[in-house]
Amino acid sequence: MFNRLPKAKLDALVRVGQRLRADNRPEKLDLGVGVYRDAEGLTPVLGVVKIAEQELNNVQTSKSYLPPDGDPDFIKMMIDLVLSKNAPELAAAQAPGGTGAFHQALALIKATGKNARIWVGTPTWPNHIPMIDHSGLRYQTYAYYDIGTQSPCFEILVNAMERADRGDLFLLHGCCHNPTGSDLSREQWSEVADVMQKKGLIALIDFAYQGFGLGCDEDALGVRLLAALLPHVIIAASCSKSFSLYQERTGIIIVKCETAAEAERVQSALQSLARLNYSNPPGHGAAIVRTILANPTLHAQWLSELASMRDRVTGIRNQLGMMENAAEQDLQWLVKGNGLFATFEMTPAQCERMGSEFAIHMPDTGRINIAGLTQENVERFAMALKSVKEVHVENAC
Ligand SMILES: Cc1ncc(COP(=O)(O)O)c(C=O)c1O
Repeated sequence: MFNRLPKAKLDALVRVGQRLRADNRPEKLDLGVGVYRDAEGLTPVLGVVKIAEQELNNVQTSKSYLPPDGDPDFIKMMIDLVLSKNAPELAAAQAPGGTGAFHQALALIKATGKNARIWVGTPTWPNHIPMIDHSGLRYQTYAYYDIGTQSPCFEILVNAMERADRGDLFLLHGCCHNPTGSDLSREQWSEVADVMQKKGLIALIDFAYQGFGLGCDEDALGVRLLAALLPHVIIAASCSKSFSLYQERTGIIIVKCETAAEAERVQSALQSLARLNYSNPPGHGAAIVRTILANPTLHAQWLSELASMRDRVTGIRNQLGMMENAAEQDLQWLVKGNGLFATFEMTPAQCERMGSEFAIHMPDTGRINIAGLTQENVERFAMALKSVKEVHVENAC
């Protein structure tokens, strides 16, 4: 039966994992997978999560199934966190992580029967386009980022929106989510909202790092602006990073509709699509999140632990960006960025040499997870970078 099944092509991140496992050098560094790491290189369980788990242990009386669209209290609190207020025009369903929410978003778009295109700015995450493709949806790429100037190609984005057909979707990254670490400014989000409204476009937002940029409200600015102005916005939000709950697969799809009646239809579609896919979502992560968000003391502790994660990543980003003895390579652009990620102007061969010669493992796109570095090894990274950078990569725009 499976003899003719094509062998799956591994994406860039899976290949980094393989190279890491094969490397026995004690000084090896993992700058691949998008998880927060502390100064010891660990991805810890947050203290507040431990407290919430203890509380759940005491009060939870059942682990029976959740409804297909998930835990209603979790949904209510997550809508507050992402959008700051609920509204009858919103439909939402808990999903297995942000990636699961993104998958459900694609299934919802497919279920409309419209042949709309999804416009994707590059670079993006290695699973985005394959997931769109796998869902049977059409996509169109445009350059989001100019690697030469290390800033978004904003004119190209606006131009793509002007060229798109009414009803097309734009996949946009919430704060800190872009693999380049380069987000739109407040003014740019506002212009994007205006153009999308004028052109009748739909926003599809992947949002997984709320709180890793400036703070929870500040980081939601773009998402909230679009949701306030556009009739249709689809948000796939994740609790994996902000609550450090990666393996609990905790996320949500929120759909802003034009009317409450339309939201009712979407809600029933979300229930049905969950039944068709995984029946109902995993409960533990959502129970932890609602326990934290419902309790002002735990909520405050979570914000403080999130701030510590943010401060560590920002500190490393600034240290690398301001490094004096890496001055021959201008890394100052790093300071303008947000969150865990940065993309360097590198060829796949140069990225490969970072691993083989310096035990610094990163995807072959030049994208790193800054949280994989510590104060002690930032300089080692900068020196390795300098040493492998011989070939110039052409400008993305
Ligand atoms: C495309 C995409 N969106 C969102 C996320 C958010 O993470 P998770 O699916 O673990 O919630 C990820 C994983 O890092 C991802 O690859």
